[in-house]
Amino acid sequence: MAEQKKNIILTGDRPTGRLHIGHYVGSLKRRVALQESGKYDEIYVLIADAQALTDNADNPQKIRDNIIEVALDYLSCGLDPEKTTICIQSELPALTELSFYYMNLVTTARLERNPTVKSEIKMRGYDDGGAGIPVGFYTYPISQAADITAFKANCVPVGDDQMPMLEQCREIVHKFNTVYGEVLVEPQIMLNDNETCRRLPGTDGKAKMSKSLGNCIYLSDTKEELHKKIMSMYTDPNHINITDPGQVEGNAVFTYLTAFATDAHFEKYLPDYHNLDEMKEHYRRGGLGDVKCKKFLEKVLNEELEPIRERRAKWAADIPAVYEILKAGTEKARRTTEQTLADVKAAMKINYFEDSALISEWQSRHEA
Ligand code: TRP
Repeated sequence: MAEQKKNIILTGDRPTGRLHIGHYVGSLKRRVALQESGKYDEIYVLIADAQALTDNADNPQKIRDNIIEVALDYLSCGLDPEKTTICIQSELPALTELSFYYMNLVTTARLERNPTVKSEIKMRGYDDGGAGIPVGFYTYPISQAADITAFKANCVPVGDDQMPMLEQCREIVHKFNTVYGEVLVEPQIMLNDNETCRRLPGTDGKAKMSKSLGNCIYLSDTKEELHKKIMSMYTDPNHINITDPGQVEGNAVFTYLTAFATDAHFEKYLPDYHNLDEMKEHYRRGGLGDVKCKKFLEKVLNEELEPIRERRAKWAADIPAVYEILKAGTEKARRTTEQTLADVKAAMKINYFEDSALISEWQSRHEA
């Protein structure tokens, strides 16, 4: 593997909508902690608009509208532009070039096997009766490998649905380095230790928060919106009377509490219990009502979301500053990614005009 002295993080999101608390516990909160750990030399967060276009080609306005939205989500969660470089994918042409060369190292059979792409194809109805699979969409794991390797990232903190992408990236790195020499860095995936945080269900109890299902709690939701969403959350449909025994498995309120509630929250807001285990025990036994659980969850979430709302309000009052952050971040990222592209092209012997060796090589081949 190419020698890597630096610790570099790269991660990103598709700007297809505002970010929600699933993104937050799955990844954003962690990024801020990594940023504050001081263990990383460089941290890049990519707004993956080009990837978002692979299945939104006919709706560019949606992607455009979400560039500032996602940047605001980042900043309001506490990503600090002094420590974390926020950049825009389509403004980094080196990524497109790298993708093109990596395509030669991946078979169509390998792409077909990627489980994330497979399930996304199904979800979007591209296969049966749909319009077919756009080539750009089909190959986006290759473009994502370009994202990661262009920054020479050795650490990629993402949700567990991204595992196949990282695997595919590592294969590309291995193949590239075997064929052309040790240039690229093999990245490690960094998953959240708390399994509940890796994939938070929707407020309706469905497996995933998704804009199209209308079951998201957004980081930008107001207190009032949060209240409404929590009060209508899915719990245990068989828990009708307070005295009925209740089920916590598959009960979205308890899943969220597992992701967010700490013992300190109990002390502060619900001293009837020392911790979540005690509360669950009472719910299972019967005698604990849903409304009480929801009110507690609302307090816990408000404590987490309030500082985020405050920072958002501050940044939202100065959108030109957000724009400048994106511009400066993208410029820095451009330099980083251009350097990697130059290394890659040199290794592939397609750096013809870096020096004039092409001339002397021809001459020595034709020497009498
Ligand atoms: N595929 C990621 C997602 O859907 C977004 C993404 C694009 C990404 N490029 C990346 C994540 C590089 C990590 C690293 O969320």
